[in-house]
Amino acid sequence: MEVSKWASGEYESGKHASGQAASSLQTCKLANLRTCKLANLIITGFMGTGKTSVGREVARRLGWEFVDMDALIEERLGMSIPEIFATYGEGFFRRQEKELCRELAQRRGLVIATGGGALVPEENRRVLGESGLLICLTCEVDELLRRLGEVEDRPLLEVADRRRRIESLLAQRREAYGRIPHHIDTTELTVEEVAERVIELLRSEVAMERIPVRTPGGGYEVHLGRGLLARVGDLARRRGLRGRAALVTNPTVGGLYAPAAVESLRKAGFDPLVIEVPDGEAFKTLDTVRFLYDRFVDGGLDRASPVFALGGGVIGDTAGFAAATYMRGVPLVQLPTSLLAMVDASVGGKVAVDHPKGKNLIGAFHQPELVIVDPDVLATLPEGEFRAGLAEVIKAGVIGSPALFEHLERRGAEPLEWVIGEAIRVKAAVVEEDPYERGRRAVLNLGHTFGHALEVLSGFSLRHGEAVAVGMAIAAEVAVGLGLCEGSVRERLMALLRKFGLPTACGGYEPE
Ligand SMILES: NC(=O)c1ccc[n+]([C@@H]2O[C@H](COP(=O)([O-])OP(=O)(O)OC[C@H]3O[C@@H](n4cnc5c(N)ncnc54)[C@H](O)[C@@H]3O)[C@@H](O)[C@H]2O)c1
Repeated sequence: MEVSKWASGEYESGKHASGQAASSLQTCKLANLRTCKLANLIITGFMGTGKTSVGREVARRLGWEFVDMDALIEERLGMSIPEIFATYGEGFFRRQEKELCRELAQRRGLVIATGGGALVPEENRRVLGESGLLICLTCEVDELLRRLGEVEDRPLLEVADRRRRIESLLAQRREAYGRIPHHIDTTELTVEEVAERVIELLRSEVAMERIPVRTPGGGYEVHLGRGLLARVGDLARRRGLRGRAALVTNPTVGGLYAPAAVESLRKAGFDPLVIEVPDGEAFKTLDTVRFLYDRFVDGGLDRASPVFALGGGVIGDTAGFAAATYMRGVPLVQLPTSLLAMVDASVGGKVAVDHPKGKNLIGAFHQPELVIVDPDVLATLPEGEFRAGLAEVIKAGVIGSPALFEHLERRGAEPLEWVIGEAIRVKAAVVEEDPYERGRRAVLNLGHTFGHALEVLSGFSLRHGEAVAVGMAIAAEVAVGLGLCEGSVRERLMALLRKFGLPTACGGYEPE
């Protein structure tokens, strides 16, 4: 047997990178592959969870190449795994796995079924995880015992009490498996059903846009894609969050979306405490924050416990301020559900509550760990709120994206995902340049100086976005008066605001 053959990677030559794989990548609308880094699909999990059968089935459906790491090691070394263990010992086998992980990570279009222990070392998870989507299959012990039956090619199971052995191996690997972002419980599923879920996950991952936002402390990503609410847990776990968590929402949004978010968090191993606060700007106060602190303390939240803010800008700001200050700051995840919160409030790290003397007077900068934007939830957003959010989208067009502004003029707000993504990119670029609002960030306040005043004067009967629309109209008028803006620009802005049914005047004030 030639061990050197193995190290040389001879197996690979001429067998891979097929055109077939490349073409099926396209059928999966995988244009985002480069940014998503989803060149491969890696299926791992304990022995008996179905990695090989599922991997083969997924590869067949996608038209990708299938690689079974254990089989490949056996082929290269010319001996079975029990023989490798018996001859060279487990350490040798693990080294072969490590080398193979590095080798496969260089390739594209593979569905890889790993050995059960292959991704236990952190380095192997990182190397393969950078090359594609990692999925861990799980299964209950009784079913594992049934599936594994009397198999004799598993050296780790050559013991009298298999149940005990399985339970102890699972306990040893719990931490490592827990760090893999996606889990699918196969206990009651057929191979075909698991394959279907794997492909669903891949599609949702590919369809998801990831907008990076750099911050002085590192950065985070805005994840944008339909159906992402059901993936909150996975995405948060991928960011390294875990354990006890708080999901802060209000009865309006919570009644609609908290169950899906909670289910996703539980599946990903979180233990979420749902906290509802009353709906409305009137509750964006220190009293509400104090109420949240009490619930956090009573609920046993510690310094590592993430706070998930599920709602519009009011929830994002209030829960965000509580997260910024509880135990000197705990991780925050923004789950914006209004258009305004998606394109504006959830990105940039400003969190605040109102004071009787003014809006947002008590606040902090506290960057989120991640922001998850699922445009599907906009289906239930009242029309007036949607329109108000469009004011911030128009503002983004004015300050940073002529393409967005023209798109809104010519084609309206569809396709919504592109419009939302573009507005977020504008905001991200501005806050990256000026994270603490010392200069450039002031452009984000276009329409807000007058807007805030109008919002307060109206006793908040005017929505934030509507007030911003009027504020932008007034600002344009003033700018024209000062010779800083051409009249034609003001006309285009006014026409666009009207097109979306937004106010351009208020309380008798007519900018024209
Ligand atoms: N932090 C920032 O950088 C920043 C930026 C802009 C605005 N803001 C703040 O954001 C707040 C305004 O945010 P907003 O416009 O989202 O208001 P909001 O949070 O009050 O939400 C508007 C209404 O829509 C409901 N709602 C939200 N999502 C829904 C959904 N998917 N389905 C059904 N109902 C839904 C809410 O419960 C609420 O009744 C203001 O307090 C403003 O100061 C903050």
